[in-house]
Amino acid sequence: MKALYICDNKEEWGLLSNLFKAHFSKIELICALKTSQALDYLTYEGPFGIIMIDASLKQVNPSDFGEQILEVAGERPLIFVGDKVTVRDRIRDELYLGHDLNAVIYKPYDIDHFREIIQTSLNWAKEEEFEQSVEEFERTEMLPMKLRNFYLFEKIDYDVYVELTQTKYARVIAAKKPYTHNTIQNYAKKNIKYLYLKKNEYLRFLEESIDDIMNGLEHTQNPKKIISLQIKSIVIIHQYLRSVGVSDSLIELVQSVIDKTTQNYQSVRTFKNVLAHFPRINLDIAEHSVLSLYLCESVCESLSWNSDITKKKLGLASILQDSGLTNEDLLKINRLDDPHLQMFSEEDKEEFKNHPAIAAGYSQYFTRFPEVDYLISQHHEMPNGEGFPNKLNANKLTVLSCTFILCSHYLARLVCSKVKSENLLQEVYYQFKLMYNTGNFKEPLVALEKTLRKIH
Ligand SMILES: [Fe+2]
Repeated sequence: MKALYICDNKEEWGLLSNLFKAHFSKIELICALKTSQALDYLTYEGPFGIIMIDASLKQVNPSDFGEQILEVAGERPLIFVGDKVTVRDRIRDELYLGHDLNAVIYKPYDIDHFREIIQTSLNWAKEEEFEQSVEEFERTEMLPMKLRNFYLFEKIDYDVYVELTQTKYARVIAAKKPYTHNTIQNYAKKNIKYLYLKKNEYLRFLEESIDDIMNGLEHTQNPKKIISLQIKSIVIIHQYLRSVGVSDSLIELVQSVIDKTTQNYQSVRTFKNVLAHFPRINLDIAEHSVLSLYLCESVCESLSWNSDITKKKLGLASILQDSGLTNEDLLKINRLDDPHLQMFSEEDKEEFKNHPAIAAGYSQYFTRFPEVDYLISQHHEMPNGEGFPNKLNANKLTVLSCTFILCSHYLARLVCSKVKSENLLQEVYYQFKLMYNTGNFKEPLVALEKTLRKIH
């Protein structure tokens, strides 16, 4: 359990810290000097069972700051610390009376009083976090969501559960209450891969996410925001395909993501600028797909391919190519004979082997985008014929297919490169030139070089 104390007088920290060490040794006390620092702690270091605000804060009114905290941390008790006069003058009644368990710890400290107030707050936190939240559901009532999804939001409208046993689930994120990325990281550290929503709520969540993203894409012109929304889209699209299938709303979202790529690329003008606006490069399937959308767009321009149909095909292939992969680490693998594949479970190996065919299968439901299935099913073929599933070489693959394969492989290598040097784009390109300068790969390879060099 963690406690947060916001106080701009460092001398006070030691006193309180000693009290916690002596009476609540299992509580980790984190002290913040500035309010901005406290808000950062709440967002990234939480959850905090206890929040204490010093009533003598100078840089900000402690009551205003208390309200700000409730906006970030949700409804919860607060403890105000100070002498009687300062607390009376600076803590507004409506804030103090806003929660039954709000309390004051008066200075100078009285040990028994301190213990009683902290214990009450601690009981609230324990009850809130654990005891009230364990519920029984049939497994068929619950739908798993990859942990990755939860980094995309700060709060969601539904309760989120972690699986304890096949029928017992603990609520770990309450509906409409803000949660921190640190909370999600803690589950990742415990090797928890999925959190659960109740089935009907899960479907509503996906549909509402699609509406939100569509709305966002329609109304923003900011390149960075567009890219962020596109990354979010890919996560939702893959999740939707695996659990629901293809619907009209999903097809609309896919179309919008592709159209917005062309529009956004026209405004940023070069692939280097796309990278400059990219929020982060994170070895992630969704980010790989979005980079592929832009690199294909850019290479089409270098090849003077202006056809809408061609862009749609490359766009859908970029979006769907790895939709059948649930283990993000498989993005680092390109071939079935890659020795690193042996480190994965049998289930992961099977998933990797089948993912081009599964994604190609999804593409057949997108009837507005003809003949994309072969592009997707070939995305792990290699110029020398050592790829999979059909060991096709550079002369058996079409120029369009070679263009897509080249972009996909190049980006996978780029995002998986451990050393991020300034010349990485060129370095990876020169490595690629040795293997891909053959047959129908030659033309797209020249276009890729032109794309990477383009600076205006
Ligand atoms: Fe793949």
